[in-house]
Amino acid sequence: MTARTIAVFDSGLGGLTVLRALRARLPHEDYSYFADTRFLPYGDKPEAFLRERSVRIAEALVRRGAKALVIACNTATAAAAEAIRAATTLPVVALEPGVKPAAALSRSGVVGVLATTRTLASERFQRLCSSHASHLRVLPQACPGLADAIEMHGAESVEVEALLDRFVPPLAAADADVVVLGCTHYPWVAAAIARRLPAGVELLDTGEAVARQLERLLAGQGLVGGGAGHLKLMTSGAPLQVEATVERLLGRKIPVEHWEP
Ligand code: SIN
Repeated sequence: MTARTIAVFDSGLGGLTVLRALRARLPHEDYSYFADTRFLPYGDKPEAFLRERSVRIAEALVRRGAKALVIACNTATAAAAEAIRAATTLPVVALEPGVKPAAALSRSGVVGVLATTRTLASERFQRLCSSHASHLRVLPQACPGLADAIEMHGAESVEVEALLDRFVPPLAAADADVVVLGCTHYPWVAAAIARRLPAGVELLDTGEAVARQLERLLAGQGLVGGGAGHLKLMTSGAPLQVEATVERLLGRKIPVEHWEP
């Protein structure tokens, strides 16, 4: 990793949906992406464990020369964004479910939020709802096992379809007209989610907002550019297994290195 690298991390490969938005907006950067698949899924882990693990990853990425950090995981953001910001002076962009833009878009006054149990139980999510959506009915729908199933079995697998059949219809029945994808894995199954909702329901993904925020922070510190679009993928788990999942999700082979922060 060089000193010009944007370091992105997630529990697994959901954050590649954020990376795609970052690379589209900021093509003249080099990127490193760390998938902590040894500990996937984050959604069912205790908050204290996630805080400690996320800070450890962030500090190790900084030591490897990152110029900015992107926490491409809603669950890690909920547990550790403040702690990571306290641990580094670098620009840090964190993700959170798009409750604010959803509140601005909704006409029915009912907004669904698909996320992990841990994200929905977090204080950060409660604060987001009371600051931006107290006038709306927010339907938090926990999706235990979904991120994991997308990685293990693929976005179009019967396992994923069965979970979506449980999690999505209650939002349609309650008349939600905006559904927030509150986990970076879920954009991989956005079409399958949309098929289970009435036509016209908006799905909100936060990748582009994160890319705009990163650009603002880099510009504020004179750090934009200087790279050539290189990408390095790393995992704490089994590289060959991650390579196979990357190939299934992106449709091309990219080498993956083992790295333990
Ligand atoms: C997971 O590892 O459970 C998914 C985490 C997330 O993106 O919120």
